[in-house]
Amino acid sequence: MCGIVGYVGVNPAKQELIDSLKKLEYRGYDSVGITILNSSLDTYKSPGKIADLETILPVDIDGYTGIGHTRWATHGQPTKQNAHPHLSGNISIVHNGIIENYQQLKEELIEAGYEFRSETDTEVIAHLLNSYYQQNDDFHTAFQNTLKRLDGSYAVAAVCDDMPDIIITGKKNSPLVVGLGNGCNFAASDITAFLKHTKDVVFLEDLEIAQVQQNEVQFFDLEGNPIQKKKQRVEWDLEDAEKAGYEHFMLKEIHEQTKSVYNTFAGKLSELDGSINLEELNLTKKQIRNLTRIELIACGTSYNAGLIAKYLFEQLAGIHTNIDTGSEYRYRYPVFCDSDDVLSIAISQSGETADTIAALQSLKSSGCRTLAITNVMGSSITRDADDVMYIKAGPELGVAATKTFTSQLTILYLLAVHFARIRRNIDIEESRNFIKALKKLPGNIQRILNAKDTVRKYAKQFSEVSDYFFIGRYMNYPVALEGALKLKEISYIHAEGYAAGELKHGPLALITEDTPVVAIATSGHTYDKIISNIMEVKARNATVIAVAEEDDNEIEKYVDLVLRIPKTDELLSPILSNIVLQLLAYYTALAKGCSIDKPRNLAKSVTVE
Ligand code: F6R
Repeated sequence: MCGIVGYVGVNPAKQELIDSLKKLEYRGYDSVGITILNSSLDTYKSPGKIADLETILPVDIDGYTGIGHTRWATHGQPTKQNAHPHLSGNISIVHNGIIENYQQLKEELIEAGYEFRSETDTEVIAHLLNSYYQQNDDFHTAFQNTLKRLDGSYAVAAVCDDMPDIIITGKKNSPLVVGLGNGCNFAASDITAFLKHTKDVVFLEDLEIAQVQQNEVQFFDLEGNPIQKKKQRVEWDLEDAEKAGYEHFMLKEIHEQTKSVYNTFAGKLSELDGSINLEELNLTKKQIRNLTRIELIACGTSYNAGLIAKYLFEQLAGIHTNIDTGSEYRYRYPVFCDSDDVLSIAISQSGETADTIAALQSLKSSGCRTLAITNVMGSSITRDADDVMYIKAGPELGVAATKTFTSQLTILYLLAVHFARIRRNIDIEESRNFIKALKKLPGNIQRILNAKDTVRKYAKQFSEVSDYFFIGRYMNYPVALEGALKLKEISYIHAEGYAAGELKHGPLALITEDTPVVAIATSGHTYDKIISNIMEVKARNATVIAVAEEDDNEIEKYVDLVLRIPKTDELLSPILSNIVLQLLAYYTALAKGCSIDKPRNLAKSVTVE
């Protein structure tokens, strides 16, 4: 969603802001703008992409301090007027989040004589800041007073031309991180914005303010009291955030899975005694034994990872497991008789999904222990949860989640085996076998990638259809859901993921010769069942593409086309099948000429409800 950035340093702010905004593009946006501070507030805005903004920027703009913004429209169309920065008097601001009481503030400000030029909720911040500044002539106090009046979520950065070398920034319920560079400092929605300059960062907490200058950053609370903040070093490298010769980030990230899955489990496995070392998890053996329930919370692709984990936790560790989306959970009235013994796990690659965070907070306030599984260091969810496990997949910049999904599954798998060892005393041999199978994953993934041309061929063959079905049973049901989600989000083809046994309860009516059906038909106790479901759709003349194991010589009798995965442990096969479906979605979107890394209407981190 929206991205903000502020730069103060020795280089011209124009190029630094444009470079940083390009790094934030992946979050999703539909308009863009910058303000550069020199003797005035030079502000340029444009609907569309950063390239559109660049066409209207003068070649030379003086100024070494500035703020920039990529906007994902919530209140008001993606027009130039609604694009940020928003100005009031000699103040300019950018904002990520939603101001819930903006109507009330707007009325108050109109009454006070302020004229609104946009339809956004953000513009109230600019005028409110200006009105406080007019009252007491102190920009800091005005900024504090402004933040105190805002309900909702915000990461705001402001500049004032009375103070040409300073950016003031603060946050509540939206991410904000300060980057400490050499001869320059940054404030941004995420670290990719300034990774080129520094890996030294300070994450702001809610209701904290930072004053960013070229050689110094100071931190304050909302009363203006100085506070000490800890500097941290991030592990990501700049190259991780570059396309490295691939046509799209998504394709690069699909290929990176040999490495990212390895990084997720590296250092955690002991083949000798079959144990899993999860030192980030501060649960005692007794607490793990006493767990009566796991509540999984996630959205979108992360929800599909959670659905697979439900099977793992129940089957391997014998723990009753519920799952819900963040957006539904937060409006339910769940019943807790035993919250002490309930572990709530929130899965979010970005760590910023507003619905997931709200649901986690609600579970926490019900007394459950909370664990966040995320990819992003210092993200909001890491501050709310009791424990945090990082999936270590590296930055994911394609809007469609790929490598973070397989790393989420890997860590959930580790967690389930760890719980199984403690609760069910599974024998060493059994857990050694899990570990061996896990270690083979990177090699197996590589074999799928080596065969990507077949996927590409089939993807092209069906790229003009208007509907697709994905079906699976047992753990392949969530794989089907995820396959359909990936295809629809990047290729815009309508796709349904279904538990194959449910077809006859309605959706079979939609199956015709024009509907390709992808059936995930890996070996296991539901293999015969999925074959029966394949027969059902074949009887309606659908073309069936199976995802099946390399040694399955039967499948070709029942289906039209087969995409192969290496044979693996039944519980791990969703990871491999999913990678085939990622490729199918990617090559379908490529054949259709879609905007793969930035699909229409979607954002990478969904920081609003
Ligand atoms: C789909 C996709 C989304 C996200 C969802 C949750 O490819 O990426 O469905 O999975 O928005 O995001 P996180 O995991 O960041 O909470």
